[in-house]
Amino acid sequence: MPELDSPLRHAPDSSMLFGFWYRALPGDALEHGRLTKALLLETPLVLGRDSSGKPFALHDACPHRGMPLSAGWFNGKEVECNYHGWKFDAHTGQCRLIPSLTVDQNMKIDRIYAGSYPCEERDGYVWVFTPEPKPASAGFGKAAEAPMAAPRVPTFSEKYKLAYLRADMPVSVDHGIIGLMDPAHGPFVHQAWWWRRRESIHEKEKRFEPIPDGFRMSAHTPSSNSAPYKILRLYADADSITTTIDFVLPNIRVETIRAGKYWFSSLTTVTPITRNQSRIDVVACWNIFAWMPFGALLLKFVFAKFVEQDRRTMELQSEGLKHNPHLMLIDDADRPAKWYFALKAAHLDAKRTGTEAKNPLSGPVTLRWRS
Ligand code: FES
Ligand SMILES: [Fe+2]
Repeated sequence: MPELDSPLRHAPDSSMLFGFWYRALPGDALEHGRLTKALLLETPLVLGRDSSGKPFALHDACPHRGMPLSAGWFNGKEVECNYHGWKFDAHTGQCRLIPSLTVDQNMKIDRIYAGSYPCEERDGYVWVFTPEPKPASAGFGKAAEAPMAAPRVPTFSEKYKLAYLRADMPVSVDHGIIGLMDPAHGPFVHQAWWWRRRESIHEKEKRFEPIPDGFRMSAHTPSSNSAPYKILRLYADADSITTTIDFVLPNIRVETIRAGKYWFSSLTTVTPITRNQSRIDVVACWNIFAWMPFGALLLKFVFAKFVEQDRRTMELQSEGLKHNPHLMLIDDADRPAKWYFALKAAHLDAKRTGTEAKNPLSGPVTLRWRS
Protein backbone atom coordinates (compact mmCIF):
# COMPACT_ATOMS: atom_id res chain seq x y z
CA MET A 1 0.00 0.00 0.00
CA PRO A 2 1.47 3.35 -0.90
CA GLU A 3 2.22 5.04 2.41
CA LEU A 4 1.26 8.35 0.86
CA ASP A 5 -2.27 7.40 1.77
CA SER A 6 -1.41 7.09 5.43
CA PRO A 7 0.79 9.93 6.56
CA LEU A 8 2.39 9.34 9.94
CA ARG A 9 0.85 11.54 12.61
CA HIS A 10 3.39 12.18 15.27
CA ALA A 11 4.17 14.64 18.07
CA PRO A 12 7.84 14.23 18.95
CA ASP A 13 8.56 14.03 22.67
CA SER A 14 11.90 15.85 22.28
CA SER A 15 13.65 13.44 24.63
CA MET A 16 17.40 13.88 24.85
CA LEU A 17 19.74 10.94 24.38
CA PHE A 18 22.36 10.51 27.08
CA GLY A 19 25.44 8.33 26.75
CA PHE A 20 26.93 10.14 23.74
CA TRP A 21 29.52 12.80 22.92
CA TYR A 22 28.17 16.28 22.24
CA ARG A 23 29.82 19.44 21.01
CA ALA A 24 29.95 21.94 23.87
CA LEU A 25 31.90 24.94 22.54
CA PRO A 26 34.35 25.92 19.81
CA GLY A 27 37.88 25.49 21.15
CA ASP A 28 38.65 29.18 20.66
CA ALA A 29 35.94 30.08 23.17
CA LEU A 30 38.12 28.65 25.95
CA GLU A 31 40.87 30.95 27.14
CA HIS A 32 43.74 29.98 29.40
CA GLY A 33 42.99 30.68 33.05
CA ARG A 34 39.31 31.45 32.40
CA LEU A 35 36.20 29.48 33.29
CA THR A 36 33.42 29.34 30.71
CA LYS A 37 29.84 28.17 31.19
CA ALA A 38 27.93 25.93 28.80
CA LEU A 39 24.60 24.12 28.90
CA LEU A 40 24.20 20.67 27.29
CA LEU A 41 21.13 18.45 27.64
CA GLU A 42 19.93 20.69 30.47
CA THR A 43 23.18 19.95 32.31
CA PRO A 44 25.10 23.04 33.46
CA LEU A 45 28.81 22.77 32.76
CA VAL A 46 31.88 24.81 33.48
CA LEU A 47 34.71 24.40 31.00
CA GLY A 48 38.28 25.58 30.89
CA ARG A 49 41.81 24.73 29.76
CA ASP A 50 44.54 23.57 32.11
CA SER A 51 47.99 25.13 31.95
CA SER A 52 49.05 22.62 29.27
CA GLY A 53 46.04 23.61 27.12
CA LYS A 54 43.97 20.45 27.68
CA PRO A 55 40.25 21.20 28.07
CA PHE A 56 38.14 19.96 30.97
CA ALA A 57 34.44 19.95 31.84
CA LEU A 58 32.95 19.92 35.34
CA HIS A 59 29.37 20.01 36.58
CA ASP A 60 28.71 23.67 37.27
CA ALA A 61 27.57 23.22 40.87
CA CYS A 62 29.79 22.80 43.89
CA PRO A 63 29.07 19.51 45.73
CA HIS A 64 29.20 21.45 49.02
CA ARG A 65 26.26 23.84 48.67
CA GLY A 66 25.62 24.15 44.99
CA MET A 67 27.47 27.37 44.15
CA PRO A 68 28.25 27.47 40.41
CA LEU A 69 31.94 26.64 40.11
CA SER A 70 32.05 28.97 37.10
CA ALA A 71 31.79 31.84 39.61
CA GLY A 72 35.02 30.70 41.26
CA TRP A 73 38.70 30.83 40.39
CA PHE A 74 41.03 28.66 38.36
CA ASN A 75 44.81 28.43 38.77
CA GLY A 76 45.49 26.27 35.68
CA LYS A 77 45.12 23.05 37.67
CA GLU A 78 42.35 23.34 40.26
CA VAL A 79 38.99 25.06 40.33
CA GLU A 80 38.26 26.90 43.57
CA CYS A 81 34.69 27.55 44.71
CA ASN A 82 34.11 31.18 45.62
CA TYR A 83 31.80 30.41 48.57
CA HIS A 84 34.00 28.44 51.02
CA GLY A 85 37.10 27.91 48.92
CA TRP A 86 36.87 24.14 48.35
CA LYS A 87 39.31 23.17 45.60
CA PHE A 88 38.77 20.50 42.95
CA ASP A 89 41.04 18.90 40.39
CA ALA A 90 39.94 20.38 37.06
CA HIS A 91 40.00 17.04 35.20
CA THR A 92 38.80 14.49 37.75
CA GLY A 93 36.73 16.79 39.97
CA GLN A 94 38.41 15.22 43.02
CA CYS A 95 38.44 17.47 46.08
CA ARG A 96 41.91 18.77 46.97
CA LEU A 97 41.26 21.22 49.78
CA ILE A 98 38.58 22.21 52.31
CA PRO A 99 39.96 25.34 53.98
CA SER A 100 37.57 25.22 56.96
CA LEU A 101 38.97 21.92 58.30
CA THR A 102 41.24 22.18 61.32
CA VAL A 103 44.49 20.22 61.50
CA ASP A 104 43.00 17.48 63.67
CA GLN A 105 39.83 17.05 61.59
CA ASN A 106 41.09 14.36 59.28
CA MET A 107 38.18 14.05 56.91
CA LYS A 108 38.91 11.96 53.79
CA ILE A 109 38.44 14.79 51.31
CA ASP A 110 39.73 12.72 48.37
CA ARG A 111 36.42 10.81 48.49
CA ILE A 112 34.58 14.00 47.59
CA TYR A 113 34.08 14.79 43.93
CA ALA A 114 32.63 17.59 41.89
CA GLY A 115 30.93 16.10 38.80
CA SER A 116 33.34 15.75 35.88
CA TYR A 117 32.83 14.65 32.29
CA PRO A 118 35.11 13.13 29.65
CA CYS A 119 36.21 16.05 27.46
CA GLU A 120 38.11 16.03 24.13
CA GLU A 121 39.08 18.61 21.55
CA ARG A 122 38.48 17.61 17.92
CA ASP A 123 38.53 19.70 14.74
CA GLY A 124 38.41 22.97 16.64
CA TYR A 125 35.58 21.92 18.97
CA VAL A 126 35.43 20.81 22.58
CA TRP A 127 33.26 17.69 22.91
CA VAL A 128 31.83 16.47 26.21
CA PHE A 129 30.55 12.98 26.94
CA THR A 130 27.25 13.16 28.80
CA PRO A 131 26.48 9.92 30.65
CA GLU A 132 23.04 8.82 31.78
CA PRO A 133 22.08 11.14 34.66
CA LYS A 134 21.98 9.57 38.13
CA PRO A 135 19.44 10.55 40.78
CA ALA A 136 20.50 13.87 42.30
CA SER A 137 20.90 12.22 45.72
CA ALA A 138 23.61 9.89 44.34
CA GLY A 139 26.18 12.71 44.20
CA PHE A 140 29.31 12.38 42.10
CA GLY A 141 32.26 10.03 42.08
CA LYS A 142 35.14 9.51 39.69
CA ALA A 143 33.79 9.88 36.14
CA ALA A 144 33.70 6.70 34.03
CA GLU A 145 35.57 6.77 30.70
CA ALA A 146 33.51 7.29 27.56
CA PRO A 147 32.85 3.94 25.85
CA MET A 148 33.66 5.36 22.41
CA ALA A 149 35.97 8.03 20.94
CA ALA A 150 34.62 11.51 20.18
CA PRO A 151 33.59 11.89 16.50
CA ARG A 152 35.88 13.51 13.90
CA VAL A 153 35.36 15.17 10.54
CA PRO A 154 36.67 12.74 7.88
CA THR A 155 39.71 14.13 6.04
CA PHE A 156 41.51 12.75 2.96
CA SER A 157 44.80 14.65 2.69
CA GLU A 158 47.42 15.93 5.07
CA LYS A 159 46.77 19.59 4.35
CA TYR A 160 43.33 21.09 4.42
CA LYS A 161 41.36 24.08 5.59
CA LEU A 162 38.78 24.06 8.34
CA ALA A 163 36.00 26.45 9.25
CA TYR A 164 33.05 26.31 11.58
CA LEU A 165 29.68 27.92 11.96
CA ARG A 166 27.10 27.75 14.72
CA ALA A 167 23.58 28.98 15.26
CA ASP A 168 21.15 28.76 18.15
CA MET A 169 17.74 27.42 17.25
CA PRO A 170 14.60 27.88 19.34
CA VAL A 171 13.34 24.36 18.56
CA SER A 172 13.87 20.96 20.15
CA VAL A 173 16.64 18.68 18.97
CA ASP A 174 14.08 16.59 17.04
CA HIS A 175 12.91 19.51 14.91
CA GLY A 176 16.51 20.65 14.42
CA ILE A 177 17.50 17.20 13.17
CA ILE A 178 14.57 16.54 10.88
CA GLY A 179 15.08 20.06 9.49
CA LEU A 180 18.67 19.10 8.74
CA MET A 181 17.74 15.94 6.83
CA ASP A 182 14.67 17.36 5.10
CA PRO A 183 15.23 17.13 1.33
CA ALA A 184 12.17 19.15 0.29
CA HIS A 185 12.72 22.58 1.86
CA GLY A 186 15.65 23.60 -0.36
CA PRO A 187 13.73 25.33 -3.17
CA PHE A 188 11.68 27.34 -0.67
CA VAL A 189 14.11 28.14 2.12
CA HIS A 190 17.44 28.32 0.31
CA GLN A 191 16.67 30.67 -2.53
CA ALA A 192 19.25 33.24 -3.55
CA TRP A 193 19.80 35.00 -6.86
CA TRP A 194 23.34 33.62 -7.08
CA TRP A 195 22.20 30.17 -6.08
CA ARG A 196 18.93 28.75 -7.22
CA ARG A 197 15.42 29.79 -7.92
CA ARG A 198 12.26 28.08 -6.84
CA GLU A 199 11.57 27.05 -10.42
CA SER A 200 14.70 24.90 -10.49
CA ILE A 201 12.77 22.20 -8.58
CA HIS A 202 13.10 18.79 -10.24
CA GLU A 203 12.62 15.12 -9.54
CA LYS A 204 15.33 13.30 -7.62
CA GLU A 205 15.97 9.69 -6.76
CA LYS A 206 18.45 8.61 -4.08
CA ARG A 207 19.47 5.28 -2.63
CA PHE A 208 19.77 4.83 1.11
CA GLU A 209 21.28 2.00 3.11
CA PRO A 210 21.45 1.09 6.80
CA ILE A 211 24.66 1.74 8.78
CA PRO A 212 25.23 1.13 12.50
CA ASP A 213 22.95 3.48 14.48
CA GLY A 214 21.94 5.34 11.34
CA PHE A 215 21.50 5.44 7.59
CA ARG A 216 23.49 6.55 4.57
CA MET A 217 22.55 8.24 1.35
CA SER A 218 24.72 5.96 -0.81
CA ALA A 219 27.55 7.34 -2.96
CA HIS A 220 26.07 9.21 -5.89
CA THR A 221 26.72 12.18 -8.13
CA PRO A 222 25.50 15.17 -6.13
CA SER A 223 22.44 17.14 -7.20
CA SER A 224 23.30 19.72 -9.81
CA ASN A 225 21.84 22.36 -7.50
CA SER A 226 23.85 21.50 -4.37
CA ALA A 227 26.42 24.05 -3.14
CA PRO A 228 29.63 22.01 -2.88
CA TYR A 229 28.83 20.37 -6.20
CA LYS A 230 28.74 23.72 -7.98
CA ILE A 231 32.11 24.58 -6.48
CA LEU A 232 33.75 21.22 -7.16
CA ARG A 233 32.46 21.32 -10.72
CA LEU A 234 35.12 23.99 -11.31
CA TYR A 235 37.75 21.36 -10.54
CA ALA A 236 36.61 18.05 -11.87
CA ASP A 237 34.39 16.25 -14.36
CA ALA A 238 30.80 16.09 -13.26
CA ASP A 239 30.73 12.29 -13.28
CA SER A 240 33.89 11.92 -11.19
CA ILE A 241 32.22 13.73 -8.29
CA THR A 242 30.59 11.51 -5.67
CA THR A 243 29.00 12.28 -2.38
CA THR A 244 27.75 10.29 0.61
CA ILE A 245 25.68 11.63 3.47
CA ASP A 246 25.44 9.72 6.73
CA PHE A 247 23.16 10.29 9.64
CA VAL A 248 24.18 8.63 12.90
CA LEU A 249 22.56 8.84 16.33
CA PRO A 250 22.30 10.89 18.37
CA ASN A 251 22.67 13.97 16.16
CA ILE A 252 25.41 13.60 13.55
CA ARG A 253 25.33 14.32 9.84
CA VAL A 254 28.51 13.68 7.89
CA GLU A 255 28.78 14.69 4.26
CA THR A 256 31.74 13.66 2.15
CA ILE A 257 32.27 14.84 -1.40
CA ARG A 258 35.18 13.54 -3.42
CA ALA A 259 36.40 14.52 -6.86
CA GLY A 260 39.75 12.87 -7.62
CA LYS A 261 42.28 14.34 -5.23
CA TYR A 262 39.91 17.10 -4.20
CA TRP A 263 37.49 16.68 -1.37
CA PHE A 264 35.13 18.47 0.90
CA SER A 265 33.66 17.09 4.11
CA SER A 266 31.53 18.37 6.91
CA LEU A 267 30.30 17.15 10.26
CA THR A 268 27.14 18.86 11.42
CA THR A 269 25.54 18.31 14.81
CA VAL A 270 22.29 19.48 16.35
CA THR A 271 22.82 19.59 20.09
CA PRO A 272 20.01 19.59 22.62
CA ILE A 273 20.45 22.49 25.03
CA THR A 274 17.05 22.26 26.72
CA ARG A 275 13.84 20.52 25.65
CA ASN A 276 12.95 23.43 23.35
CA GLN A 277 16.31 24.79 22.38
CA SER A 278 19.06 23.34 20.27
CA ARG A 279 22.18 24.53 18.51
CA ILE A 280 23.54 23.65 15.12
CA ASP A 281 27.31 23.43 14.70
CA VAL A 282 28.87 22.81 11.30
CA VAL A 283 32.56 22.05 10.88
CA ALA A 284 33.73 21.84 7.28
CA CYS A 285 37.12 20.72 5.96
CA TRP A 286 38.33 20.92 2.36
CA ASN A 287 41.42 20.94 0.21
CA ILE A 288 40.00 22.98 -2.67
CA PHE A 289 40.60 26.71 -3.05
CA ALA A 290 44.09 26.35 -1.59
CA TRP A 291 45.30 28.79 -4.25
CA MET A 292 42.57 31.30 -3.61
CA PRO A 293 43.17 33.66 -0.69
CA PHE A 294 39.46 34.28 -0.16
CA GLY A 295 38.33 30.70 -0.80
CA ALA A 296 37.66 29.99 2.86
CA LEU A 297 35.76 33.23 3.23
CA LEU A 298 33.66 32.54 0.17
CA LEU A 299 32.75 29.06 1.39
CA LYS A 300 31.99 30.41 4.82
CA PHE A 301 29.77 33.07 3.31
CA VAL A 302 27.79 30.47 1.36
CA PHE A 303 27.36 28.24 4.41
CA ALA A 304 26.58 31.12 6.75
CA LYS A 305 23.79 32.10 4.40
CA PHE A 306 22.33 28.56 4.39
CA VAL A 307 22.57 28.17 8.15
CA GLU A 308 20.94 31.56 8.69
CA GLN A 309 18.10 30.63 6.33
CA ASP A 310 17.54 27.41 8.30
CA ARG A 311 17.77 29.23 11.62
CA ARG A 312 15.27 31.87 10.57
CA THR A 313 12.89 29.17 9.30
CA MET A 314 13.06 27.30 12.60
CA GLU A 315 12.53 30.54 14.51
CA LEU A 316 9.28 31.02 12.64
CA GLN A 317 8.38 27.35 12.94
CA SER A 318 8.81 27.52 16.73
CA GLU A 319 5.77 29.82 16.82
CA GLY A 320 3.62 27.11 15.27
CA LEU A 321 5.18 24.41 17.43
CA LYS A 322 4.40 26.16 20.71
CA HIS A 323 1.20 24.17 21.03
CA ASN A 324 2.86 20.86 20.16
CA PRO A 325 0.81 20.05 17.05
CA HIS A 326 0.89 16.59 15.52
CA LEU A 327 3.13 16.43 12.49
CA MET A 328 2.15 14.84 9.23
CA LEU A 329 5.14 13.06 7.78
CA ILE A 330 4.68 11.88 4.22
CA ASP A 331 6.60 9.57 1.91
CA ASP A 332 9.13 9.78 0.42
CA ALA A 333 10.27 13.31 1.28
CA ASP A 334 9.79 12.81 5.02
CA ARG A 335 10.97 9.21 5.15
CA PRO A 336 14.42 10.17 6.57
CA ALA A 337 12.57 11.99 9.40
CA LYS A 338 10.54 8.83 10.06
CA TRP A 339 13.75 6.80 10.13
CA TYR A 340 15.23 9.23 12.64
CA PHE A 341 12.28 8.81 15.01
CA ALA A 342 12.41 5.02 14.53
CA LEU A 343 16.17 4.93 15.23
CA LYS A 344 15.71 6.95 18.37
CA ALA A 345 12.85 4.79 19.61
CA ALA A 346 14.83 1.61 18.83
CA HIS A 347 17.84 2.96 20.71
CA LEU A 348 15.79 3.78 23.82
CA ASP A 349 14.01 0.45 23.61
CA ALA A 350 17.27 -1.49 23.30
CA LYS A 351 18.69 0.34 26.29
CA ARG A 352 15.65 -0.44 28.38
CA THR A 353 15.59 -4.13 27.46
CA GLY A 354 19.35 -4.66 27.17
CA THR A 355 18.99 -5.93 23.61
CA GLU A 356 20.49 -4.85 20.27
CA ALA A 357 18.79 -1.84 18.59
CA LYS A 358 16.97 -2.73 15.40
CA ASN A 359 17.70 -0.49 12.40
CA PRO A 360 14.49 0.72 10.70
CA LEU A 361 16.11 -0.01 7.31
CA SER A 362 16.42 -3.73 6.68
CA GLY A 363 18.36 -3.11 3.45
CA PRO A 364 18.86 -0.56 0.65
CA VAL A 365 15.87 1.62 -0.20
CA THR A 366 15.33 4.11 -3.02
CA LEU A 367 13.47 7.32 -2.25
CA ARG A 368 12.05 9.77 -4.78
CA TRP A 369 11.00 13.36 -4.31
CA ARG A 370 11.06 16.72 -6.06
CA SER A 371 13.35 19.48 -4.81
S1 FES B 1 29.49 25.97 48.10
FE1 FES B 1 31.37 25.58 47.24
S2 FES B 1 32.75 25.60 48.87
FE2 FES B 1 30.82 25.87 49.78
FE1 LIG C 1 18.38 23.76 5.06
